[in-house]
Amino acid sequence: MNSKAPRATERTAGPRAERPAPARISRRRLLLGAAGLVGISPAAAGAYAAGIEPRSLVVTRYAPNPPAWPADRKLSITVIADLHAGSPDMTLTHVRRVVETANLLRSDVIVLLGDYTASYVIANTKVPYRDWAAELAQLSAPLGTWAILGNHDWWNDLPDVRQALADAHIPVLENNAVMLDGEGRRFWLAGLGDQIAFRIGRHRFRGVDDLPATLAEVRTDDPVLLLVHEPDIFPNVPSRVALTLAGHTHGGQIRVPLIWPAFVPSQYGGRFAYGHIVEQGRHLIVSGGLGTSVIPARLGVPPEIVRIDLGA
Ligand SMILES: [Fe+2]
Repeated sequence: MNSKAPRATERTAGPRAERPAPARISRRRLLLGAAGLVGISPAAAGAYAAGIEPRSLVVTRYAPNPPAWPADRKLSITVIADLHAGSPDMTLTHVRRVVETANLLRSDVIVLLGDYTASYVIANTKVPYRDWAAELAQLSAPLGTWAILGNHDWWNDLPDVRQALADAHIPVLENNAVMLDGEGRRFWLAGLGDQIAFRIGRHRFRGVDDLPATLAEVRTDDPVLLLVHEPDIFPNVPSRVALTLAGHTHGGQIRVPLIWPAFVPSQYGGRFAYGHIVEQGRHLIVSGGLGTSVIPARLGVPPEIVRIDLGA
């Protein structure tokens, strides 16, 4: 780890259907909200949101006990979501710190939940694909590093992101599943195509997700982990899936009382915005992610690596 970098802190804590009107971060709302925040709060709060919190790093831990996961099957998972590599905050140095911190967790498997490059309404400089990919290539886990793609990958950089992940030898799961087997811990790792891959109108999207086809690849009774970028698919995920892992929301990115969850890009508002959600015995963990989008600021949702321990 870069000795000059701040130390990460820890805390506990229908296939291919058109999406009618999924809420997402409205650039206009977010800019107006951020301006309002600065206007009603001490200037220090704005400076913190723009210059300090986005450059921090925490490890958030969960130890869920989903009924569809065998209680005696230990598995540790590190989750890296929404890297958004680019200026001003997710520099190559910060990407390197994320990778080094993730490796120190020594998890059995590492998963990447999409949105790899920066995208702002203001001018920004992206970390070159080959550079962030070279850092991600250093991720190390006995059961490997696996990726899915997010909406920004589809909207902005798809060929380059695919090539970068291929160069890093990180396989991408898209509506398919693989069986992983480490010392009697057999399980299926499934990855869903992005749910809002194509913008087809104002706040209207079409996905490339196919949940039935994805789960059709599960051919044994072993437990299933499902990777999705947007958590909004969760109401359709059957109880056969032990745990669903999602990113995309950034926890709202600006989490301020009276405003939150206005900026949560989900048609369900705050329902799936962040954290460990249990509904009807089905388990979902939503990461607040690492980078920023639309504007380079975070408040109340520091960049996080998620560590999950199953069967603990
Ligand atoms: Fe996203």
